[in-house]
Amino acid sequence: ERTTIGIVGGGPSGLMLSHLLHREGIEHIVVEARPREEIENTHRAGILEQGSADMLTDGVSDRVLHDGARHDGIDIRINGESHHVDFQGLVGASTFLYPQTDVFIDLADKAVEDGRDVRFGLGPVDVDDLTGSPLISYVDPESGERIEIECELLVGTDGSRSTCRRSIPEGERRAFYREYPFAWFGIMAETPPSHDELIYARSEAGFALISQRTPKLQRLYFQCDPGTDPNAWTDEDIWATFRERVNFGGFELNEGPIVHKSVLGFRSFVSEPMRWGNLLLAGDAAHTVPPTGAKGLNLALQDVRILAESLAEWHSARSDSALTAYSERCLRRVWKAQNFSYWMTSMLHANPEASEFDQRRSVAELRTVVESEHGKAWLAESYTGWPNERTH
Ligand code: DHB
Repeated sequence: ERTTIGIVGGGPSGLMLSHLLHREGIEHIVVEARPREEIENTHRAGILEQGSADMLTDGVSDRVLHDGARHDGIDIRINGESHHVDFQGLVGASTFLYPQTDVFIDLADKAVEDGRDVRFGLGPVDVDDLTGSPLISYVDPESGERIEIECELLVGTDGSRSTCRRSIPEGERRAFYREYPFAWFGIMAETPPSHDELIYARSEAGFALISQRTPKLQRLYFQCDPGTDPNAWTDEDIWATFRERVNFGGFELNEGPIVHKSVLGFRSFVSEPMRWGNLLLAGDAAHTVPPTGAKGLNLALQDVRILAESLAEWHSARSDSALTAYSERCLRRVWKAQNFSYWMTSMLHANPEASEFDQRRSVAELRTVVESEHGKAWLAESYTGWPNERTH
């Protein structure tokens, strides 16, 4: 088989790229190792920037406007002392609470409706010849036959453990990392939201985030040790931890049956460049941010927006410079998001490895931000998403 663009990875990045290429009339095939049902049932992030919601309403689905909830701000609490960050008042922007699983469902449904070639549940997918005519291969799960797809360009949207990224010779790529001495314990609880907006709470005992999913389902996280085994925690242990971190001054969390629990690792990671030979990387395949501030999915969708523009330019003029420029354009925004995610993370968590001086300093840093209109505006601007990236 042959196609123009081979897309390895059928998560939100790969499917959004497919949607944008389809509109440009650029031929492509999407291959995905996991079955569709598995992706639909994996809990991921929950917050979309306005720009991300716009990409959905631009031809994919309007469901975010009906089933999603617009949030005009967040609440930041320091030992129970509440500071409202009014996104609309400060920077005229909002975010949407709309789970990544719904983003995926909208994109996958639209691909079916358009009759696009998107193949799920393929098992291991191999890639080869990235500097020549890239080759995708896998064993067809039904026939057991080896399928080969030759492409002009290959796009890797295959997530943080990317096969595509690892196919770039080590001497041709650089990895930049940062590790953190904490993780998040995430739960899904069958109770109505405890507050109308998200609460980011810093306390002596550590960080907690009170988020939501539906009118009957809450999504909550608390800072824990990276070695934590979620199954060793009873519901009572979990609620007691939240109470200690957020129940202050009359505020009480809604508690109820916990229907899902997991521990999420923290890591900052960038792999440069995002283009090598005839391979282009987008989303988690090229970078990971720690979850505080919810940048991961938004960053991935912005990569794809820029990538679709670059591919359209390449397609009409066979312009190689459009592909080189893609990496440079994306990385500017990627590093801004890295900085923001690192900053939100370090300012809101109690770092068990920090000196007492640094622990006090970081609480003061948070106070400096939330007690200043300028500080809050800076946070609001980054949280809700920067306007389209500048290239000079
Ligand atoms: C959610 C996750 C985040 O990392 C965040 O900053 C806000 C919300 C969520 O899953 O709801």
